[in-house]
Amino acid sequence: MGQRSSTMSDFTADATVDAGWPSSAAWAEALDAARHIAIGYLITLPEHPVSRHASPADMAPRFADPLPAVGCAPEEAVGEWLRRAEPGIVRSSGPRYFGFVTGGSTPAALAGDWLASALDQNAGSWLMSPAAAQTELTVVRWLLELFSLPASWSGALTSGATMANLCGLAAGRQWAAHRLGFDAARDGLGGNPAIPVIASAEIHQSALKALAILGLGRDALRIIPAHDGVIDLDAFDRALLACEGPAIVVANAGEVNTGAFDPIRAMADRCAAHAPGAWLHVDAAFGLYAALSPRHAPLLDGIDLADSVASDAHKWLNVPYDCGIVFVRDRAPLRESFAGTAAYLDAAAGSETWNAFDYVPEMSRRFRALAAWCALRAAGRQGYEAIVARSLANAAQFAAWVDADPGLELMAPAHLNIVCFRARHPSRAGRGDDALTTAAVEAIQRGGVAYVTGTRWRGAAAIRAAFDNWSTTAADVVALQQAVSDAVAAAIARP
Ligand SMILES: Cc1ncc(COP(=O)(O)O)c(C=O)c1O
Repeated sequence: MGQRSSTMSDFTADATVDAGWPSSAAWAEALDAARHIAIGYLITLPEHPVSRHASPADMAPRFADPLPAVGCAPEEAVGEWLRRAEPGIVRSSGPRYFGFVTGGSTPAALAGDWLASALDQNAGSWLMSPAAAQTELTVVRWLLELFSLPASWSGALTSGATMANLCGLAAGRQWAAHRLGFDAARDGLGGNPAIPVIASAEIHQSALKALAILGLGRDALRIIPAHDGVIDLDAFDRALLACEGPAIVVANAGEVNTGAFDPIRAMADRCAAHAPGAWLHVDAAFGLYAALSPRHAPLLDGIDLADSVASDAHKWLNVPYDCGIVFVRDRAPLRESFAGTAAYLDAAAGSETWNAFDYVPEMSRRFRALAAWCALRAAGRQGYEAIVARSLANAAQFAAWVDADPGLELMAPAHLNIVCFRARHPSRAGRGDDALTTAAVEAIQRGGVAYVTGTRWRGAAAIRAAFDNWSTTAADVVALQQAVSDAVAAAIARP
């Protein structure tokens, strides 16, 4: 890991460039080194432990050096990073990672993503890159089509569903403020009537973050009880009726623990009937992909009546991090929330053109649309239908196996691609199941064969396995089953 001092061959002989500055010849070597590492990593993904559980104490000493005074060849920097970081790499893009809700990267998506870095387009405005702007417009249009959402909607790519939730809720805030006679983006919320937000107790943490950032406040949320992950519609009715003014409503299309769906059409009908108006935002971070499965698409019934929808491409679309999407029925309140004016930017924007920075919080932006375009172009609708079908078949196979095992208990039906379950101690009549389940999660993670994450559901410790990686096969599901059996057996045997 030592650094060698730079030699003249590393640097350009061009006298107009400062000494110590790499030459353009370094690109090929640096990228070849990265390609070599990347291919080696990708083709051996299934052979390595999914995670090595590196602790801060393991990692920090590997990165303890002060800033190097003297540089090295770019390809050396790349190789050195790998040697230092290797124990901390989690193979979450591999086929046996079932933690959280995590996609991998299809080959086309990954190649597109690499190119996005190489071309280094600023996807903020049309003028900064007509190619990036047009690609993003096309990706949004293709995704609307893929998810059977109205073609008249618009949208933009974000860093993930957290920011997509933020964008949808910002648009809702702006819309509601107008109804109350003020302009939230211009005037702020201080001194103006509060804007109530209604959602079930299973609202995702990221939407709460968005409420905090937007000044609506986490605690302003009117929390409706959920039964088995699904909002109590009667309680929702009462809460909406109690709102004298306009409200923002958040529906879950795919609750993160179990994949349960709120009844979107019924909620949309209630919103439409609320005389002062209600903005319906749907968090469909992964649930939107139900649209690609004829059997599961009814779970999304009524989503076309929503005002905004948040989803993720770095989950089931299997594009690399980071990429989310916000869709809106009417783009005006989104634009009002995020568009600014500045002489140098107005000139840069161009009046006739679409400028992404008017619809999202960031100004300069990564060219995320390129990975998504390549992914969609290479797989087509059929490719994505196949990925979703395979993921759902894997989830169903695993859920059936859990259900048939007397040592395990399904905590909820596998509504979509998440299986939520727990371990049962054979001889303790329910006592100690939490400890056993928690120990099993840890043992599975440490075993390295497969990766799942823990949660709490209905007051009990539980295990979640999410299926949305394009490369996961039925054999990987069998490996997961074996890993679960071994981990539970080991945890039971432990004194
Ligand atoms: C339902 C839901 N909403 C929002 C998010 C946040 O997404 P991201 O991590 O892409 O910001 C997630 C992530 O798992 C999710 O499952």
